[in-house]
Amino acid sequence: MATKETSGTSGPVVELSGVGKSYGNIRALHGVDLAVSPGQVTCVLGDNGAGKSTLIKIISGLHQHTEGEFRIDGEPVRLGSPRDALDRGIATVYQDLATVPLMPVWRNFFLGSELTRGRWPLRRLDIALMKKTADEELRAMGIVLDDLEQPIGSLSGGQRQSVAIARAVHFGARVLILDEPTAALGVKQSGVVLKYIAAARERGLGVIFITHNPHHAYMVGDHFTVLRLGTLELSAARAEVSLEELTNHMAGGAELAALKHELAQVRGVDTDVLPSASRGAGESSGDLVP
Ligand SMILES: Nc1ncnc2c1ncn2[C@@H]1O[C@H](COP(=O)(O)OP(=O)(O)OP(=O)(O)O)[C@@H](O)[C@H]1O
Ligand SMILES: [Mg+2]
Repeated sequence: MATKETSGTSGPVVELSGVGKSYGNIRALHGVDLAVSPGQVTCVLGDNGAGKSTLIKIISGLHQHTEGEFRIDGEPVRLGSPRDALDRGIATVYQDLATVPLMPVWRNFFLGSELTRGRWPLRRLDIALMKKTADEELRAMGIVLDDLEQPIGSLSGGQRQSVAIARAVHFGARVLILDEPTAALGVKQSGVVLKYIAAARERGLGVIFITHNPHHAYMVGDHFTVLRLGTLELSAARAEVSLEELTNHMAGGAELAALKHELAQVRGVDTDVLPSASRGAGESSGDLVP
């Protein structure tokens, strides 16, 4: 079983070198390097079809890579299933959270891992302990909910994401993968999720944060990986890249310039609000900032 403590070594928990994945003759991913260390947030950005999901499917044990090397704690691995990943402390929170909307928050917190007391045939759910534990874990992450008896479906999207994050922390995750947790959320709720990403980092977890939004990434990221058509477009530490540069890489500078030129011909489209393709010029005002 994985423990809550980060491993004694200070090196990365998860490391990819030259990793690639082909689906038949479709090469979805090629030559990707990535490292995730305890207490660090690694952001993976990229447009639709860039290979983000393929990358996290490899790390979370859903798919196997077909090129390169994937190491956990320095040891080359090939994961057979998500259970395999979880046993090594890699937990994934998918966007369509696997929760039961009508069940109370505390019940969802322990879904599939319910605590019991007594022996068979008198074994029953230890409701009091589950409520108490869920309450403590949520508080430890700074998540304050009025009532853990309320159905999880009544929480906001951001709150549901944060319960899922606290749950992964409680069950011993060392690396937490979040697949576009802010994609369907408004400004305020996105802020809530970003706060708990930071809280997970404070607890010593390595976080892989997948997003389309460079603003969200830049608010919490220690390292930025931009994928483009299945390859690495950028891999840079926070100190090496500004938000404008990140936005440019994300948008694909040259493509954006072409798009801007094209849109400039259309009446009623204000192209001045688009970020300039040249480095450091013009803030993107198209994105929401919590
Ligand atoms: N199971 C599959 N079989 C064949 N091709 C696939 C499969 N999964 C993904 N691909 C292809 O791999 C490429 C990368 O897809 P992927 O889903 O990883 O992108 P993504 O960055 O997650 O995109 P999005 O932002 O739309 O979620 C795409 O061209 C996609 O069509
Ligand atoms: Mg995807």
